[in-house]
Amino acid sequence: MSATSRTILGIETSCDETAAAVVRSGRCGTWEVLSNVIASQHDLHAEFRGVVPEIASRAHAERVLPVVKRAITDAGVDLGQVGAVAVGNRPGLIGSLLVGVAAAKALAWGLGVPVIGIDHVQAHLIGGAIGPPGGDVSRPEFPALGLVVSGGHTSLYACESFTKIRRIGATIDDAIGEAYDKVASILGLGFPGGPNLDRLASEAGVAPVKPGFPISRIAPASLDFSFSGLKTAALYAFRGVPEGERTRAKREARGEAPAKLLTASEVAVTFQDAAVGTVILKIERALEQIGRVGTLLVGGGVSANSLLRTRLVELGQSRNIDVRLPRMEYCLDNGAMVAALGGELLDERGWVGDEWTMTAAPTTSGM
Ligand code: KG4
Ligand code: ZN
Repeated sequence: MSATSRTILGIETSCDETAAAVVRSGRCGTWEVLSNVIASQHDLHAEFRGVVPEIASRAHAERVLPVVKRAITDAGVDLGQVGAVAVGNRPGLIGSLLVGVAAAKALAWGLGVPVIGIDHVQAHLIGGAIGPPGGDVSRPEFPALGLVVSGGHTSLYACESFTKIRRIGATIDDAIGEAYDKVASILGLGFPGGPNLDRLASEAGVAPVKPGFPISRIAPASLDFSFSGLKTAALYAFRGVPEGERTRAKREARGEAPAKLLTASEVAVTFQDAAVGTVILKIERALEQIGRVGTLLVGGGVSANSLLRTRLVELGQSRNIDVRLPRMEYCLDNGAMVAALGGELLDERGWVGDEWTMTAAPTTSGM
């Protein structure tokens, strides 16, 4: 495959964004994004306060081809210049994934180019190493530590390259984004909750309430995460601890008032401090365990979080690590990360794609 034809179309339909992008190999050895089109379905799911799978699949089916067409036009290329089609084929909502996979296969077949199925979680890790045309983002140094913080995953990876990664920690209950969304819903903030909670906490102008919400350590050396206790702490702080009749009677007999409830702003700030603190704690543990790494690759929707970004930059400065935070447009689900990881895999495989039997799968390949 010649250098000029290393132009890849990426398609992403795993959840509630219909996305497509065109990337090509950049001057700095990374991937430069020629176009990045995202049609969000947030308005369709807002009234249900969560993603409704059937509505999502139908919306993807209506939108995928217009979104692809727009990505090609915005990139200023014609379809004949596309050298491969990459598609997020796992994990995600199966009906949604199948729409993207069918579109990608049809396009690749028609164009006579390879098609390649991409793990969405792994693709998030390349988000901090892609840039606009001009390729102003350098190739990161490996080995690296990888962190994915999204609505479905909270995981740490030991990365030899973008394609060779090994999971070393994962959530044992809720993902961090899920916890953000649930706490936002408890506080009466709109869907999707994460960005709204982030905004409320940033604008609140109050400090986290002492002694703070629990930071889950799990076991002294564990790299796994748990956010369900934190979510419950936020719920009780806002609505009160449920009390049975006997407990209430005993408390009243002691002359004690119920615990003072926190305001929405106080809960937001205190929750965010503990959620981000948990992530930083596990990164520090991982750095102790896996030895010297030059880079921290960060990706997933929650990497848009303002406090997490600040704390990660501070961590990078204090430990002399190159922290790769994605540009804001590559934090959320997008086709550019899918196309870029497709390019990495195709370069490794001599531009041989997957079999045409490649299909969607609901779970991550785990790595
Ligand atoms: O990566 P993503 O688009 O989807 C998955 O792969 O799961 O991540 C979506 C998640 C949602 O839970 C959303 O609330 C959260 O990312 N999120 C945020 C912020 N922006 C998006 N969470 C906290 N702060 C933000 N600024
Ligand atoms: Zn995602």
